[in-house]
Amino acid sequence: MDIRLLRKNEPLPMDLLLEADPSEELILSYAATGFCYAAEHQGERVGAYILLPLTDTAIEIKNIALETSRRGKGYGKELLNHALSEALRMGYETVEIGTGNSSIGQLALYQKCGFRIAAIDRDFFIRHYPEPIFENGIQCRDMIRLEYKGKGASG
Ligand SMILES: CC(C)(COP(=O)(O)OP(=O)(O)OC[C@H]1O[C@@H](n2cnc3c(N)ncnc32)[C@H](O)[C@@H]1OP(=O)(O)O)[C@@H](O)C(=O)NCCC(=O)NCCS
Repeated sequence: MDIRLLRKNEPLPMDLLLEADPSEELILSYAATGFCYAAEHQGERVGAYILLPLTDTAIEIKNIALETSRRGKGYGKELLNHALSEALRMGYETVEIGTGNSSIGQLALYQKCGFRIAAIDRDFFIRHYPEPIFENGIQCRDMIRLEYKGKGASG
C-alpha cells in the first residue's frame, strides 16, 4: 500500500471517505482546509484519511477508511500510523480523533496506536444525525474524543 498526499486539484476518494462519515458536505469542508491522503494499491485507491488542523499545535484525523475487503488485516493500523507520523512531521504536538461509543473496533485500534480518551461529547450523534445509529448492538449516542501526544507535548 502506497500512501500519499493528494494535490488540491486531484479528485477526492469520496466513496472511501464517506465510509467513515456520511456527510459529503463536511468532507468537502475538511478537504478544503485540510490535507487528504490516499492509499493506493496497483493504481487503485484502497484507503484514505484527512488531516484537519484545529489550532497551531493540534490536528485531527478525519474520515480514516479502508476499502471493505482490506479491513481487519493490519492496513488500518498502517494508515493510522502514517497519519500520526505525517501530523508529527508537520510539527503538531497533539493529534486528535473522534469516534462513536459503539465503534468498538475503532476504539481498540486507536488505543493500541497510543491514543488516550480525552473527552466525551455526550449525545453528539443524537444531536447531529436524523436517524438512530446502531453498531455492535449498541446505540451510537456519544462521541469519544481521543488524543495522541507527541514528544514535547505537555499533558
Ligand atoms: C477503521 C478502519 C480504517 C480500521 O482498519 P482495519 O483494517 O479494520 O484495522 P486493523 O486490522 O489494521 O487494526 C485493527 C486493530 O484493532 C483491533 N481490534 C479490532 N476490534 C477489536 C476488538 N473488538 N477488541 C480488541 N481489539 C480489536 C485489532 O485486533 C487490530 O489490532 P492488532 O493489530 O493489535 O491485532 C476500517 O475498519 C474501516 O475502514 N472502517 C470503516 C470506516 C470507519 O469506521 N472509519 C473510522 C471512523 S471513526
